[in-house]
Amino acid sequence: MNVPSVALGTWAWGDSGEAGDGYFGSRLTESGLREVVEKAQANGFTLWDTAVAYGMGRSESVLARALSGFDRGEYQLSTKFTPQIAGDGDDPVADMLEQSLDRLRTDYVDLFWIHNPADVARWTPPLIPLLKSGTIKHVGVSNHSMEEIALADRILGEAGFRVEAVQNHFSLLYRPSERTGILDHCRDHDVRFFAYMVLEQGALTGTYSPVHPLPDGSSRAAAYNRILPQLRTLTDRTAAIGDAHGASTADIATAWALAKGTTPIIGITKASHIDGLIRARDLDLAAEGIADLETLADAADVDTRGWWEREMR
Ligand SMILES: NC(=O)c1ccc[n+]([C@@H]2O[C@H](COP(=O)([O-])OP(=O)(O)OC[C@H]3O[C@@H](n4cnc5c(N)ncnc54)[C@H](OP(=O)(O)O)[C@@H]3O)[C@@H](O)[C@H]2O)c1
Repeated sequence: MNVPSVALGTWAWGDSGEAGDGYFGSRLTESGLREVVEKAQANGFTLWDTAVAYGMGRSESVLARALSGFDRGEYQLSTKFTPQIAGDGDDPVADMLEQSLDRLRTDYVDLFWIHNPADVARWTPPLIPLLKSGTIKHVGVSNHSMEEIALADRILGEAGFRVEAVQNHFSLLYRPSERTGILDHCRDHDVRFFAYMVLEQGALTGTYSPVHPLPDGSSRAAAYNRILPQLRTLTDRTAAIGDAHGASTADIATAWALAKGTTPIIGITKASHIDGLIRARDLDLAAEGIADLETLADAADVDTRGWWEREMR
């Protein structure tokens, strides 16, 4: 797998279009997202992460329209099979993929994920024919425990394939993948670890605070607004480190994830966010800075586990 140092997440893009203002309350426009795509592509950020579950297909459709005009070889697509919304046909994995391909206007996906570990023994084998046919180029698992990753890898291994990537929630505030050894496992076995929600859906960007909370009525506001006061010391320190590097709070949080050896998936919503990714990509956080931020993050004493995530043992 040859992928950029930072991948781009499009969950919030599922909010755009007619339904608008859903999970993120972001008020995105297709012309704005087209600008995001052009700037990202021009700067080497060419891996786009989406899922059927993001706006029930809307993120995939909006992404495909924003990418129109680029050659298929100029970008990579990452989408997911979500077992919790599987259909009842003979092959729900192939069916869900087929619908994604249709919305994404392509005949292959570069990186295909099992979104959540509902039943590893059931949902991993259907990936094998899709790998054999080349409809999916690489396979990853998301939100799987160490044991579940190993089981999926064994199943694929019997057919000559492997789990090439892991995608888990990983931020300054949420580090179970490090504690449980998943990060080390990935490093030792040449499995790429994709870190999602590095910015905790905006709570770690410095944009939002108790006086300027996340968008009223959105799901992310419900999850984060009540903990914003506890994050103040951490975001102030992150901003100060950013000032010393000519970078923003969000850039430092992203640079932290890069320094931990992960490939962050950053949910960008504005073309200006690309400037931040360029700064983060070039930033070298000192070991003391990393330790300092982690100590403050632990002291905030918040639990940002998503409602879809199980506790990792
Ligand atoms: N596998 C899974 O189960 C799973 C779960 C969650 C997410 N993901 C993937 O990971 C991606 C990232 O997660 P996420 O989008 O939920 O949250 P995130 O990356 O932690 O935060 C995204 C939010 O941060 C703000 N932001 C982004 N870049 C910024 C910058 N440079 N400066 C300031 N603010 C910035 C934007 O908010 P504003 O629009 O308010 O500015 C954006 O909506 C998702 O899009 C998705 O692709 C996967």
